[in-house]
Amino acid sequence: MDVNIDVVIVGHVDHGKSTLIGRLLYDSETLPEDKLDEIQIILEEYKKQFEFAYFLDSFEEEFKEELTIDTTRVMFKGRNYYTIIDVPGHTEFIKNMLTGACHAQIASLVVSASDGIQEQTGRHAFLIHMLGIKTVLVAINKMDLVDYSQAAFEKIKDETANLLASLGFSVTVFVPISAIEGDNIYTPSERMDWYHGPTLVQALDETEPEAASEKPLRLVVQDVYHLDAEKVTVGRIECGTMRKGEELVFQPSGVRGKVHKIIDFPEEVTDGKAGDSIGIVVGYETRRGDVGGHIETPPKSVDRFLGEVVLIEGTLKRGDVFSIKCGTNRGECLVEEIRERINSETGEVIEENSTEVSKNEAATIVFKTPPMVVDNFSEIPQLGRFVLTRDGRNVALGIVLESMV
Ligand code: GTP
Ligand code: MG
Repeated sequence: MDVNIDVVIVGHVDHGKSTLIGRLLYDSETLPEDKLDEIQIILEEYKKQFEFAYFLDSFEEEFKEELTIDTTRVMFKGRNYYTIIDVPGHTEFIKNMLTGACHAQIASLVVSASDGIQEQTGRHAFLIHMLGIKTVLVAINKMDLVDYSQAAFEKIKDETANLLASLGFSVTVFVPISAIEGDNIYTPSERMDWYHGPTLVQALDETEPEAASEKPLRLVVQDVYHLDAEKVTVGRIECGTMRKGEELVFQPSGVRGKVHKIIDFPEEVTDGKAGDSIGIVVGYETRRGDVGGHIETPPKSVDRFLGEVVLIEGTLKRGDVFSIKCGTNRGECLVEEIRERINSETGEVIEENSTEVSKNEAATIVFKTPPMVVDNFSEIPQLGRFVLTRDGRNVALGIVLESMV
């Protein structure tokens, strides 16, 4: 079965994310030929010692800066195909991290055995929690620097487990690795005979991300076309499945009725599933921004909800108005109440009933919006995340905790 799973690699600056990915590629022999040549040239130019991080870092700039400056995507094969997303550990680059990790189903948190938990370890863990990634594999890296000691591993493992538990994760996989030496990545390490768990790739192969098709149907309407006297509602199935003949309800319009026809352009088909962009003929008028679902598990239109956001730019004040993007919906939203201001490194509540939130902080907020369909993120993540923009710039990313009707 060829499944492609997006994995985002996160962790503090310099803890070895790029090196780990380089090693994954090198050992799985998925590395493209031209990449090797390119790396050779760069290596000579900078007269650097050979390091796996160079395999991955695709921008020349980066070698000067010694920092990952953008997200990079690469693929390798285990039991499944994996798209690995590398994100930088530097504070200023949280935005890149969010763009890169948006669709990931699995996160691997890299923690250096010699350094332990640092600022971005906590912040990245918080962000992957915000993105709804439920599967986290912890790689305790640089075991070579601590003499492959079990005691050192256990110490960092406990620290990391506590941090993740405080953010609501139940993580069970901790793999002691050395990205540089290749221990426990593809091949079980002979230098850590005290460890009997899976290698990192085995751990990846054993995870089963939740399938979007098992969720209730959410068909997000992008447009309505008039084709040969038929009104065709065009949209994307974000989750769930649908069949011809079923009855659907669309919100906020409130129209409902049978599906006469499903078109996977240009062909007519009998059903559709999560990820499909399709056209349907329903015999009544839907609108862009509508969301369709089954009568038993209907989409709900709200004009107020409790959300949790993390601010990536500027400040956010009570009474501020932002543009909100959720699905194909765009509208103005008002910050009605800031219930809690939260430290995004630890998940701790700093202040209740606040008036202002600063960059890099998180907050739970009551938003007032025009009628729009949202779902609780914990139930239907596809319709439970949103972005706030101001003057055309993305300033915050959020999830819906609770819709309020
Ligand atoms: P940013 O992208 O800047 O956030 O860093 P990163 O997490 O991608 O770290 P990177 O892979 O660039 O590695 C940082 C440094 O740690 C490099 O000098 C690596 O050679 C070194 N390093 C990475 N993994 C290991 C390891 O397993 N053992 C040892 N000894 N050094 C390592
Ligand atoms: Mg890097």
